[in-house]
Amino acid sequence: MATRTTIDRIAEHVGTEVELRGWLYNKRSSGKLHFLEVRDGTGIAQCVVFKGDVSAELFEAAGKLTQETSLTLTGSVREHGKRKGEYEVGVTSLTPLAATVGEYPISPKDHGTDFLMDNRHLWLRSKRQHAILRVRAEIIAAVRDYFDDNGFTLVDAPIFTPNACEGTSTLFETDYHGEAAYLTQSGQLYMEAAAAAVGKAYCFGPTFRAEKSKTRRHLAEFWMVEPEVAFMDLQGDMDLAEDFLVSVVARVLDRRKNELITLERDTSHLERVQKPFPRITYADAIQTLTDAGTGAKYGDDFGGDEETVISAKFDRPVIVSRYPMDLKAFYFKRDPEAPQLALNMDVLAPEGYGEIIGGGQREDDLATLEAAIDHHKLPREAFSWYLDLRRYGSFPHAGFGLGIERTVAWICGLPHVRETIPFPRMLNRLSP
Ligand code: 4AD
Ligand code: MG
Repeated sequence: MATRTTIDRIAEHVGTEVELRGWLYNKRSSGKLHFLEVRDGTGIAQCVVFKGDVSAELFEAAGKLTQETSLTLTGSVREHGKRKGEYEVGVTSLTPLAATVGEYPISPKDHGTDFLMDNRHLWLRSKRQHAILRVRAEIIAAVRDYFDDNGFTLVDAPIFTPNACEGTSTLFETDYHGEAAYLTQSGQLYMEAAAAAVGKAYCFGPTFRAEKSKTRRHLAEFWMVEPEVAFMDLQGDMDLAEDFLVSVVARVLDRRKNELITLERDTSHLERVQKPFPRITYADAIQTLTDAGTGAKYGDDFGGDEETVISAKFDRPVIVSRYPMDLKAFYFKRDPEAPQLALNMDVLAPEGYGEIIGGGQREDDLATLEAAIDHHKLPREAFSWYLDLRRYGSFPHAGFGLGIERTVAWICGLPHVRETIPFPRMLNRLSP
């Protein structure tokens, strides 16, 4: 009797008969042999059909199998003929489950990005995409474990919201029983309420930005994790971001080695993600840009190009703090020593991957916050509940948001965020 198993566990079955279920990934034949590359979601195994081992019908049928036919097979596991430490299956029986209806659209040859994006539902089966999916899942697990293991309580934030958090220009509006509602840009305001309830809170979910940006870093729908901590200041926020990132990167290096090899990621860059991260101010960053002759001047916000120049000076993530208040959302606390500056911070990933974290300390003074809401021309009524947090036991607090897709792009070494999420939503893409 063959033991049913999966390809990732095949080494445990050397010398015995196993049953595998999967899809034909690739095939080549030479005379008396068909070499079937079979994938089952856990890996790819070479399955060898030798004419002398099977019936003539089976041998012929194996030769006609088309790419991505689903199948079950049984065979004995043995060490790979040529590659040490790898295993293959000597096929004894094989049953196709469903042949493909016509040719599989994604052949091993090169395809253009648009074609692959249109076929994203199938493209996910390929080696690189499989590796990215696995790294993404590991990053998400590491994120959750970090907060769960460090005294945080998960508090889910709503997706339908009555008002903006990160600026009104990037809102997706929707009809909510006859009333305007917006898809959330950030769970932060809700996490501030949660921090007063549980001390250390985090939310993790999809967020939406209707930005008209068509860059390699912008998605219309992306996942963000947002911790928020009571009685923490900007300094503590930077310490938390640093400790958190070091932990996530170390976990992926430890558990997703093979996937990073598949992605041809130079992991020496990731191994340098150790404490302490360099910390500079916005003013320092402007100086760097000026020295590099970029033409940036004090008061400018940074785009991808500026972030690349700034991060190029460092071999690990860099934390940039204290931006001019004018560049920032209404909720930041002003630096008491320089009130024109926000107590905010961004973490820029190395190697030009740009901003992955944005956050800072929140304004906790009622009157100052009311003035900021007015200054940004936001409707005060909509923020009444948020202002309550300053009315009833206001407390210093800080937090941040980490974008999962930009983090996946950085850790996997991908130039564009479109491959970092299973089904990307971008300016010109809503399907599949
Ligand atoms: O800097 P952002 O806009 O910060 C906030 O939303 C805060 N309310 C978070 C907080 O303090 N709780 O966004 C945070 C991160 C960015 O650093 C980036 O990684 C990611 O979210 N991000 C995007 N990722 C992909 N596509 C977009 N359009 C993104 N916009 C932001
Ligand atoms: Mg930001």
